[in-house]
Amino acid sequence: SEKKAAEGEKVLKVGTNADFAPFEFQGADPSAYEGFDMDLIRAIGEEMGYKVEINNVAFDGLIPSLEAGNIDVIISGMTINDERKQKVLFSDPYYKSGLSIMVAKSDDSIKGFQDLKGKKIAVQIGTTSATEAKKLGSAEVKELNSSADTFIELNAKGVDAVINDRPVNDRYIVESKNDNVKVLSELLTSEDYGMAINKNNAELQTKINEALKKLKDNGKYDQIYAKWFGN
Ligand code: ARG
Repeated sequence: SEKKAAEGEKVLKVGTNADFAPFEFQGADPSAYEGFDMDLIRAIGEEMGYKVEINNVAFDGLIPSLEAGNIDVIISGMTINDERKQKVLFSDPYYKSGLSIMVAKSDDSIKGFQDLKGKKIAVQIGTTSATEAKKLGSAEVKELNSSADTFIELNAKGVDAVINDRPVNDRYIVESKNDNVKVLSELLTSEDYGMAINKNNAELQTKINEALKKLKDNGKYDQIYAKWFGN
């Protein structure tokens, strides 16, 4: 579990939506947040000399939380895009991702994005998946609170498809041992994840970028990457 900060110790208040394995999730001990993002931000905090405090926040509440000053930085598999850049500062990119489609294994009617027209799709609210799904125009898009909820909805046949970040879809297939669903090979987008920092804290942005660079140079980033994604 999280240790209390010693007196005078600098605390980095981190916001994440911890339902997005392998980037952030609650394991056996729910207070010990796990995942690639969690290891990365702890290593960054250590590098900067800050104690890291993780706050679990709804994904669509993360940027408002940052703007309100309740957290210092977001790390949450968050894609760097222009819309968000209006509101936050992003760190340098730290992970290359993209979106993929999950459907029932028995469904032969959906082979790619265009086949989703007129279908029901579950996405997590406030995500790039939601933006992408709405581009179809004719699809019925169900915006749910977590990515776990989108998988539940697909299994319950409440929707025909889930759009989600590819590594999260892939991880679900492996971890859930759910044999009734498949991920299509088509990648809908190419996206970079970045950490988000309050607009008026360019100093923290610089510190985080310096720490990230250090971890990339000294092999620590590669170690963390290998732990979660192999080689
Ligand atoms: N990469 C997508 C986005 O930025 C989804 C991120 C969702 N993250 C999460 N922890 N639920 O919109």
